[in-house]
Amino acid sequence: MQDIAYDHLEKIRDLLLSKGHTPGSLRYHVATFGCQMNARDSEKLRGMLEYVGFSESPDEDCDIVIYNTCTVRENANQKVYGRLGELKGKKKKNPFMKVVICGCMMEEKAEEERIKSSYPFVDIVFGTMNLSEFPRLLLKNLTDKEKQYEVTEIDRKNDDLILSLCKEDPILPTKRKYPFKSGVNITYGCNNFCSYCIVPFVRGPERSRRKDDILDEIRTLSKDGVIEIMLLGQNVNSYRDPGRDDITFPRLLQMVEKIDGIERIRFMTSHPKDLSDELISVIKSSKKICRHIHLPLQSGSTKVLSQMNRHYTKESYLSLVDRIRNQIPDISLTTDIMVGFPGESEEDFLETCDVVERAGFDSAFTFLYSRRDGTPAAGRADQIDEETMHERFERLLSLIHEKSGEVSKRFLGQTYPVLVEEENTHDPSLMTGRLPQNAIVHFKGDASLIGRIIPVTITESRDFYFFGESASS
Ligand code: SAH
Ligand code: SF4
Ligand code: F3S
Repeated sequence: MQDIAYDHLEKIRDLLLSKGHTPGSLRYHVATFGCQMNARDSEKLRGMLEYVGFSESPDEDCDIVIYNTCTVRENANQKVYGRLGELKGKKKKNPFMKVVICGCMMEEKAEEERIKSSYPFVDIVFGTMNLSEFPRLLLKNLTDKEKQYEVTEIDRKNDDLILSLCKEDPILPTKRKYPFKSGVNITYGCNNFCSYCIVPFVRGPERSRRKDDILDEIRTLSKDGVIEIMLLGQNVNSYRDPGRDDITFPRLLQMVEKIDGIERIRFMTSHPKDLSDELISVIKSSKKICRHIHLPLQSGSTKVLSQMNRHYTKESYLSLVDRIRNQIPDISLTTDIMVGFPGESEEDFLETCDVVERAGFDSAFTFLYSRRDGTPAAGRADQIDEETMHERFERLLSLIHEKSGEVSKRFLGQTYPVLVEEENTHDPSLMTGRLPQNAIVHFKGDASLIGRIIPVTITESRDFYFFGESASS
């Protein structure tokens, strides 16, 4: 698969050259609508386009636009349609322009049909299982001038498909957003079927990559200047090397720790039901694993959690938080919380608020429950009305602000190693970096610091970010 992908990429490069397009003259724009996994796929799409000679454009006024979609909530879909409408006019002005749509939304039949019938100017559509086929589809579209649709239907009963998905792991060229940090997939798909969630339907069965492939990729990244990696999966804690059952996530982390040049290790996402004491002790004894765990709560009500199919209770979540904090006192915990799951009562919601009061989250992503067709929760008759949902959302948000304001005070006056990521977008005299705890800090400095880890003393705390001072500035 890998060789075939490169073969097609080379043919595209030759074809473009033969038509007089010098390298860099054609431009691309890849828009990412989803999570870190989606963003990593976008880096592969960018890598493939750079490989054939396209150069990156900051906006959609260019020759190939790719929308890498997300469908986890309805508003993610609306964003795509909102922007897609505008591309029609751009395409009229630039007849060479190609419009490509891929990602999770395309795994939904109804959305694929809607694109086909209502957006005829879209040239190429492919699904989450078809990333490595993008070169073939683009080549075919360039030569035949025909629209290309390739969406492998996810059939969990088809053992052959699952087997081939597990084996297939082509290394595609990538272009990273940051030269010094990178995501690395360790698992694909999801088998948890939380009752509200569409991800298992659009990303397919959970499969772990071979540990050797993961370690090779990280070694290559390290040689290429990467010092921070984020191991990616919908539930990293369920990682198992397909060849060796004893290589679990904590074991994998210990192997990654040994790779020279990698200074910081992060991971995302940890499902609370699978976070083991072994993992806690591996983090505790590590010099490289960042003191941050993203631990999605979803709800604080044991009744709702059971209906969500999350496999933990309010009490077991809180006791997990205690175990983590006892072992790793400087840990930062962040979370995802949803309000308005079907049947959520005022009492259930207050249980969620109670966990927020007690867990001491540094920050939290909050979501309004969104009904996703095909998921068990979508079929329930007891959906929560919009007004109640919004009212609870506002209350939760102000509680999170209040609590995170309190817990962030512990950073004041302390000095942390900060990976400097970029110039501040509003004030170029400020640089922006991240603490090991993942919080963002702005401080006076210059662009020569980008990509370095330097000590920064925290001087001021704002909503979910900090100001600081660096001795190097
Ligand atoms: N695998 C991760 C979550 C991936 S989706 C985990 O299990 O934690 C990211 C977040 O989107 C979820 O944590 C959840 O809070 C939110 N989410 C997922 N489906 C949703 C839905 N139907 N409506 C609202 N939020 C949803
Ligand atoms: Fe969705 Fe649950 Fe899987 Fe996370 S673990 S992706 S919330 S089904
Ligand atoms: Fe969205 Fe797909 Fe990620 S639905 S959250 S982009 S796995």
